Amino acid sequence: MGLISAEVIETVRLRSDIVEVVSRYVQLKKKGKYFTGLCPFHQERTPSFTVTPDKQIFHCFGCNTGGNVFRFLMLKENLTFVEAISLLAQQAGIAIPSNGSPAEREKEHKRNRLRQINSLAMDYFFYMCQHHDAAAGARKYLADRGLSREILERFKVGYALPNWDSLLLFLKEKGYQAQEVAEVGLAIKTENGKYYDRFRQRVILPVWDATGRVVGFGGRVLDHSLPKYINTPETLLFSKGHLLYGLHLARGAIREKGFVIIMEGYMDVITAHRFGITNAVASLGTSLTREQGRLLMNYNRNIVIAYDADAAGVAATMRSLDLLQELGCLVRVVNIPDGKDPDEFLQKQGYQPWENLIDQSPSLIEYKLQQAVSKKQVRTVSDKLEIMQQVFPSLSAINSEVEVEENLKVMAGLLNLSPEAIAGEFKRHKANAGKKWTNSDNIVKTKHNTLSNIKKPDAREKAEAGLLRLIIEDPSLIETVIAKLGPEPFSSSNYHKLFQQVQKIFNKPDYQLAGLFNYLGDDEQTLLSYLLTLEIPGENREQMSEYVECISRCNRQERRTMLLQEISKAEKSGSHWHDLWNEYILLRGIAEAERLGDRERTAVLLQEYQQLIKIDTWKHPREGSDGS
Ligand code: CTP
Ligand code: MN
Repeated sequence: MGLISAEVIETVRLRSDIVEVVSRYVQLKKKGKYFTGLCPFHQERTPSFTVTPDKQIFHCFGCNTGGNVFRFLMLKENLTFVEAISLLAQQAGIAIPSNGSPAEREKEHKRNRLRQINSLAMDYFFYMCQHHDAAAGARKYLADRGLSREILERFKVGYALPNWDSLLLFLKEKGYQAQEVAEVGLAIKTENGKYYDRFRQRVILPVWDATGRVVGFGGRVLDHSLPKYINTPETLLFSKGHLLYGLHLARGAIREKGFVIIMEGYMDVITAHRFGITNAVASLGTSLTREQGRLLMNYNRNIVIAYDADAAGVAATMRSLDLLQELGCLVRVVNIPDGKDPDEFLQKQGYQPWENLIDQSPSLIEYKLQQAVSKKQVRTVSDKLEIMQQVFPSLSAINSEVEVEENLKVMAGLLNLSPEAIAGEFKRHKANAGKKWTNSDNIVKTKHNTLSNIKKPDAREKAEAGLLRLIIEDPSLIETVIAKLGPEPFSSSNYHKLFQQVQKIFNKPDYQLAGLFNYLGDDEQTLLSYLLTLEIPGENREQMSEYVECISRCNRQERRTMLLQEISKAEKSGSHWHDLWNEYILLRGIAEAERLGDRERTAVLLQEYQQLIKIDTWKHPREGSDGS
């Protein structure tokens, strides 16, 4: 947490009013216990953004972002946690004692030195590229690629000399140790303890974080040798999967244009800028990570993917699509003709054809359809059905009926069927997807339906949300909950994580709801603010047993489905299955008694079941894990 103690953080938080801070950016209206306004983190016409003063939190129901006052400033002003605290402390007139532990101070000092090294190296590479005789080839290379002095300056494109130690010597002269240069990734240490420059004889592309601090570099060869690019390795400052190249330059344009274009590479973004397309960023490699997706969501949720048109690019696009949809983005995909990347396309075709590509870019579902259709010849009915099955899950994720209908029409066109026929299939698909739950005694057959993939029923989700909310407000409930449901009461992994955090910190003397945010990662903060805005009826303990019962019921139901699978497996392999069967029969008996409202019998059977199997000898499958 850097230099600032938890105590100071709480003081700053308590002295800063979230309503006042948010009001600097958002026009808030009072509505009972809440304030509402238009969300500053996504575009909307009707307010779904709320601020709750008595809990000192914000939450947007549109883009599902939330947290305390620190998180708000971090997102809004693109600050780190420490920066947000410092800013509010300053405004509240609280002096932050700079007396963290010696170890912390040491670390902060080191980070600062590493930043200075990066910044000096960037200037050094840039200067060499412009002026050194040995950089003549690089200058020609860059000119041949069409990069003007102004663009080179904007992206601080540099050159690393061919020597083994020119950067090292320069930095040593400035007072830095070789070991530090290695730590920031600019030098490499040999086995016998010598150091040499990592980047040699390469064009250098500095990489910045969203606030415009240089955190690492990429280096490209001037010819066709391999590897084409090398990059700064993971360091204290540089984490490739958490960065988007060009974001600090694109922020304004993203806001103005209302969308962001993700490309693959350095050169794509640079060329895009050359053509005045400044709302472009690169994921630096093929696969977009979840962190990069989230980073983008801070700016805009309208995303255009413009990856290379080669096989790797298409595969990466497909992966990114699902990830971005999951995060709640609205995605379109640019089809670049003839296997090109944006760089090449822009150079050959120019601005207007590119704009046309963007205008005509298919939606996520259209793109998936096109891909599915192009992969195989669609002749038979079963070909068509197969393609529908591939696309329906994405379609189900769409909330807008108009949008669904539009997409069904597109599907109809591509598959040469009537829209009614497709709509009928889609209806059936949705009904089946729902049925998996109510009819869970059927042995689940297809690979898409394995237990861990089945969407949880609403009842469970609601009960888990309610239960976790109660626990957060009154962590003394934890003991009872664990006694009833076992040590892992929550099936979704982010609920589980938040639950663990609460367990860890609720014994601290200063346990306070909004203070809890200080200990949480982004995802858990969002979840927490969501939970805290839930309206929960009834009195705690009573409500709790209802939730607990509902969750155990769901557990039993899942267990039953699993048992049937195991029994059929055991039968096939000729192994022992009678114990499984006994458990299954008992569980079915419980469900039957519950259905008939026979409380007495339910209680008896439940007790029997408790004896048969200890609650913590099995676990329900958890999302995002292999269920083991
Ligand atoms: N990349 C990398 N290491 C490699 C190859 C690629 O880190 N050996 C990353 C770079 O960030 C690169 C991106 O993947 O920008 C896309 O790769 P590619 O399409 O091959 O490069 P381009 O950006 O098109 O570069 P150029 O036009 O200079 O060939
Ligand atoms: Mn490329």
